[in-house]
Amino acid sequence: MATFAIADVAPEDRSESNRARTFYIETFGCQMNVHDSEKVIGTLEHQGYTRVETEEAADLILYNTCSIRDKAEQKVFNRLNDYKSLHKQGKRFAVLGCVAQQEGERIFERAPFVSIVSGSASYNRLPEMLAQLQQGTKRITGLDDRQTEETFETEFTARSNPHRGYITIIEGCDKFCAYCVVPYTRGKERSRSSTSVLAEARRMADSGYTEIQLLGQNVNSYHDLEGKKSFAELLAAVGEIPGIRRVRFTTSHPRDFTRDIVQAIDAVPSLCDHVHLPVQSGSSHVLKLMQREYTREQYMERVAWIKGARRTISMTTDIIVGFPGETATDFEQTIDLLAEVEYDGVFGFKYSPRPNTPALTMPDSIPDKEKSLRLQVLLDRQRETQRRNYARHIGDVLEVMVEGYNTSRRQIVGRTSQNKTVNFTTEQPILPAQGSYLSVRITQSFPNSLVGEAV
Ligand code: SAH
Ligand code: SF4
Ligand code: F3S
Repeated sequence: MATFAIADVAPEDRSESNRARTFYIETFGCQMNVHDSEKVIGTLEHQGYTRVETEEAADLILYNTCSIRDKAEQKVFNRLNDYKSLHKQGKRFAVLGCVAQQEGERIFERAPFVSIVSGSASYNRLPEMLAQLQQGTKRITGLDDRQTEETFETEFTARSNPHRGYITIIEGCDKFCAYCVVPYTRGKERSRSSTSVLAEARRMADSGYTEIQLLGQNVNSYHDLEGKKSFAELLAAVGEIPGIRRVRFTTSHPRDFTRDIVQAIDAVPSLCDHVHLPVQSGSSHVLKLMQREYTREQYMERVAWIKGARRTISMTTDIIVGFPGETATDFEQTIDLLAEVEYDGVFGFKYSPRPNTPALTMPDSIPDKEKSLRLQVLLDRQRETQRRNYARHIGDVLEVMVEGYNTSRRQIVGRTSQNKTVNFTTEQPILPAQGSYLSVRITQSFPNSLVGEAV
């Protein structure tokens, strides 16, 4: 049951046991983890905790972890190892997120000084877990498994940016790609109601947010709990909220990518000109082994819809190289697909065998050296594509949202609707405020950024 009351602790006990407590939190992994941490921070602050910037200054140290690849998982154990001596000073440790859910109570064996181990499906119980911690319970777990129907909604979200904010509209994943831990670490797919999403978006608009990023492991697999709105309709409805100037959404799964999403982008100007559509491989043979449930041809059909839009929609993707069974010919097909789509950005990864996943039983047939080589070829080719793509913007006047100021380069940093970074200068005596929107004429380009002057 979701409860945000301070379970079982009467107010008088709180004043006694709840001297000013501090916490430090570090977040690894994807945007969903970043946003979960914003909710965890809000929940902790509501419980009277104050956030501090270092492990040393904190009473409670939280790591919100990622286990998507082996390297990500190792980070948490390295961090725990680095700071374990702090335990002797009475500091408590909590391991949250995907490694927590994946490893469960084994974390207590590897790091016996840890007090809380909780996966994201149990964050509704955080207040209860904190109360137990204060009562001196040594080992507290929140390891609700795939059965859960709950989403983590809390009014105490401490968003880190006052202009641009996340809303998770769907949690978990039921797709079970052969290589991926997410279905095991995040539980089954469950969507929020469009009413609650729109209410949160309106509250954000009322408090000054102009950009909203809708999140989900597969954001476009959204199924309105109330059956009122399709994903495309929800996108449009968020985009039509007065005050909202930009709406982004990530990550889209190709299998559930429908044409009405492109139509919504064409119809509603505030929907950003960018789709992140991970293909993983350009070979239908590998896609089948990966259990992605689409072929290269079906993927390219979606690309054609996106390219056929009236607006120029930027595309980015994720690629895994060296999946078990990927031949040199399969890899060539991936390179070929990248050339055909001409993405504006590619996140390339070497296949990393993960616990519990079906691919673990396939022989990891590609040596690491070969995986590295394929990744390098891919990234080199892609850099050239991006060099050409970005150069096409020279002479354009693009609207950017101001994100900050780079003091060493003396440039203002902004982002376009297509999610491209623009470093620019202005002749105005006063720097534009963070979160403001300006028009910038592009004068120079690089494979990952643009340079310009405010007009
Ligand atoms: N739900 C999204 C992906 C989320 S995970 C989708 O289906 O497209 C983010 C990315 O991590 C994936 O797109 C994939 O490219 C990469 N990834 C996931 N598991 C991996 C593994 N075992 N090894 C290497 N990369 C992996
Ligand atoms: Fe992982 Fe596949 Fe789910 Fe994406 S769709 S989160 S890659 S299982
Ligand atoms: Fe990592 Fe979990 Fe996100 S494994 S990528 S933090 S869903």
